[in-house]
Amino acid sequence: MRLTEGKAFAHVPLDVYFIITRICNFNCSYCIREPMTSLPQEMSVDLFNSICNSFQRLKIRKLIITGGEPLLHPKFDEIIKRIPDSYDIVVCTNGWLLKDKLLKITEMRKCDILFQISLDAVGDNHDKIVNLPGAFKEVIQGIQFANKHNIKPIISTTVGHLDASAIIQLFQLLKEFNIDTWKISAEMPCSRSNGENMLSDAVGWNVLVKTVHSLNGWGGIQKIVCDSMFNFANSHLNQQLSSLAKELAGCGAGKQKVYFRTDGSISLCPLLDRYKVYPPQEDFYSWWLYSKDLLEFREFPATRLDECSDCEWLEICKGGCHGASLYKYNSIFHADPRCPMAKSKKR
Ligand SMILES: C[S@@+](CC[C@H](N)C(=O)[O-])C[C@H]1O[C@@H](n2cnc3c(N)ncnc32)[C@H](O)[C@@H]1O
Ligand code: SF4
Ligand code: SF4
Repeated sequence: MRLTEGKAFAHVPLDVYFIITRICNFNCSYCIREPMTSLPQEMSVDLFNSICNSFQRLKIRKLIITGGEPLLHPKFDEIIKRIPDSYDIVVCTNGWLLKDKLLKITEMRKCDILFQISLDAVGDNHDKIVNLPGAFKEVIQGIQFANKHNIKPIISTTVGHLDASAIIQLFQLLKEFNIDTWKISAEMPCSRSNGENMLSDAVGWNVLVKTVHSLNGWGGIQKIVCDSMFNFANSHLNQQLSSLAKELAGCGAGKQKVYFRTDGSISLCPLLDRYKVYPPQEDFYSWWLYSKDLLEFREFPATRLDECSDCEWLEICKGGCHGASLYKYNSIFHADPRCPMAKSKKR
């Protein structure tokens, strides 16, 4: 069955993001979130539950609870308590409140819950990025507290400047802890981020990735995830793709990931909010499977991207990040502006 027939999407693993609050105590210089001032500050517990109930016939891979700062939601505990045990949960946090909340949250849950803590640099450099003195100290204490209680967090590092020495410094710090996964990603252009560095430089990014991959002596870090860009020759994706994998290839927005905002409205990716946001759906299951709009979006006509038309990786890449194209060209119908292979053909 082709995915474009819709029904097949009931079997595609889906990551569901809940932006449960717009409020945050940090003020990160690169924050991806649009202010969303017309929306309620928080998602209500009832709305959260009713959205969760609409997932019953879908194959949910994990629920990601995010914000703003999700631990600031006044009913955070209630939200977590009510999530069915069958789901894996990831809580994305800036770490400031972790010490206060961690034990209560883990006690409430029988199923898997992972904490993803954002940490972008060491010492004052982190505080400057998040615009809050003392933030670094609190995050480190949060990680120490988690380790003391046998919890290994995920650490998420967003890189805004191609500075290998800053990443190595962070590595030296993190390997002293027990870390489930260290995820290192490039800053994306959206909202407060103008993405100047990362937008222009996939080549520089790939040099940084090589440096990360050559780090050894990981100490307590179990896994490091830091993927190169537009480097398909060495990728596991560079294989004969099944027809299903072909349809799922490229960006996962609207196929393998979806975001719910505080009023229940639906976003396919924060970077695409300026392109389209969908109203709350009473019957999310039917909408996800059969909405004409979504079917069209999934059939994204990569061949219409002039800059990619003769690219040998088109089937795998499908033009890269449409959000980056939107940011740079005000249209999703261009090649990812970071792609060095598309650059020469750029208008
Ligand atoms: C938007 S935050 C929300 C949750 C929580 N406040 C936090 O900071 O972890 C979720 C993740 O998005 C990342 N992020 C924020 N702005 C970004 C950007 N412009 N590009 C890429 N990632 C970004 C953050 O570093 C964090 O890991
Ligand atoms: S990235 Fe997270 S911590 Fe930073 S301002 Fe945005 S929501 Fe807050
Ligand atoms: S030319 Fe287009 S399809 Fe090819 S790698 Fe670059 S963005 Fe992807």
